[in-house]
Amino acid sequence: METKAIRQHEHGGVEVLQLETLDVGAPGPGEVRIRQHACGVNFIDIYHRQGLYPLPLPHGLGLEAAGVVDAVGDGVEHVSPGDRVAYVSTTPGAYAELRNLPASFLCPLPDDVSFEDASSIMVQGLTVELLFNRISPVRAGDTVLFHAAAGGVGLVACQWARSEGVRLIGTAGSDEKCAQALALGASEMVNYRRSDFVQEVKRLTDGEGVDVVMDGVGKDTFMGSLDCLRPLGTMISFGNASGMVPPLDIMELAVRGSLKVTRPILLKHIGDPDLLAQMSRILFEKMRAGAVVPQIGLKLGLKDAASAQEKLAARSTMGSIVLTC
Ligand SMILES: NC(=O)c1ccc[n+]([C@@H]2O[C@H](COP(=O)([O-])OP(=O)(O)OC[C@H]3O[C@@H](n4cnc5c(N)ncnc54)[C@H](OP(=O)(O)O)[C@@H]3O)[C@@H](O)[C@H]2O)c1
Repeated sequence: METKAIRQHEHGGVEVLQLETLDVGAPGPGEVRIRQHACGVNFIDIYHRQGLYPLPLPHGLGLEAAGVVDAVGDGVEHVSPGDRVAYVSTTPGAYAELRNLPASFLCPLPDDVSFEDASSIMVQGLTVELLFNRISPVRAGDTVLFHAAAGGVGLVACQWARSEGVRLIGTAGSDEKCAQALALGASEMVNYRRSDFVQEVKRLTDGEGVDVVMDGVGKDTFMGSLDCLRPLGTMISFGNASGMVPPLDIMELAVRGSLKVTRPILLKHIGDPDLLAQMSRILFEKMRAGAVVPQIGLKLGLKDAASAQEKLAARSTMGSIVLTC
């Protein structure tokens, strides 16, 4: 069967993204063919396109989508044709109308979650679940510093923190972004283009510092983030939107008071079907309770993938981005 899909034949700028027509065969053993209704756009797609995280070329882009099972291969039992599903996969290729995928990545999609909402939140929502529940579990009363709090992961984190009684101090690059994050659950926001975030965090915490920093900005914020932690605090470096974090002198952790640093990545954990089922159940429960409402800031067609990535890299988006197929 034919499908339209976004592919790249070389690493580079958004001009390498091409809309192509491909043939999708029958799903192999353990695979499912999905007719996709929407797919999400994430910052990791930019790293894949640029080659920061290199892909064998040519390759498709995109790690998450939602749609309907069209056909199943031998040995697939937990989903059937006609089922509504959503996924995050370790293999890019979600920017497509139709694709084959190992069935182990699929989560049955509750009827009350739309395809667009699901495709916007699988990567970002499961990442927040990982950060809050599994990397350095945060509890009611803890204080977390979260950078880029009005981004896709950020707006989920603001809502998650509010629902758990966690004080989230966010940073963002404009007053409009700060207002949006506050509306969704951040306790305090710092516009880090106008104020020094380290000084502001010290002021807001009476000089004590925060329990945990969640930093997806990377190069520009990493060292300042360490300065925001209380002794014995935890630095979670989970992304590099501003560039890769340079190598760290481990003594920097000692002099600031026995800090811990962790560098999690969601894709290393979703291959475990039991863990994936547990994490996605917790995410969907948060959504069903109304504690986490997907925030789609930009919706475009599949053919506009390049424009979507351009806007994301230019820091002009808030919340999540979806492409409808
Ligand atoms: N480790 C994992 O498993 C995992 C999973 C998902 C996402 N992530 C990471 O989480 C981060 C957020 O991902 P997202 O998809 O939700 O993106 P996003 O937060 O919607 O967009 C990135 C944001 O980062 C901020 N930023 C700061 N410096 C930047 C720069 N030089 N260039 C571009 N943006 C910059 C911008 O917000 P301001 O204008 O407010 O500064 C921008 O809007 C990314 O680093 C991503 O790689 C990691």
